[in-house]
Amino acid sequence: IKCLPVEKEQTLIVVKPDGVQRRLIGQIIQRFEQRGFKLVGLKMLQVSEDLLSQHYCQLTSKPFYPRLMEYMTSGPVVVMVWEGHKVIQSSRMMVGHTNPAEAQAGTVRGDFSLHVSRNVVHASDSLEAALREIQLWFPGKELLNWDCIDQYITC
Ligand code: TYD
Repeated sequence: IKCLPVEKEQTLIVVKPDGVQRRLIGQIIQRFEQRGFKLVGLKMLQVSEDLLSQHYCQLTSKPFYPRLMEYMTSGPVVVMVWEGHKVIQSSRMMVGHTNPAEAQAGTVRGDFSLHVSRNVVHASDSLEAALREIQLWFPGKELLNWDCIDQYITC
């Protein structure tokens, strides 16, 4: 069979403190599972200012940066790595515009949020960013490379 190439990638998704507070973790995970992506890393943590400042190193000069740091450290986050064909581009589409007022209905931000300072979720925006962010949040060998166990289940 002649097949089209699969561009297998990984991306970093973070359910931000407002997403955790509002009990949206399950619905966000569901959207990625439903799409067919594979979860290869997942943890809940209280993020340190040090890690966060590395994560948002390109935004340090922005006027909203201090409030962004305050918000992102205000409670626990859930951080995940999802894998699959063009997952970086697809997850940016699924997450929607940075500003929820401009996010389409059907996207996470378009369905669940109002304001740019409380936009529920983070998704890596390029291959370079994904590689850098995954290294930062999941150092060492924390990611699992799993496959289908047997023929009695489909995966
Ligand atoms: P950015 O990297 O521009 O967007 P995205 O998260 O879609 O990749 O900005 C990072 C976060 O900074 C964004 O998710 C929310 C916050 N932010 C503000 O609080 N105010 C703003 O005006 C912008 C542009 C971003």
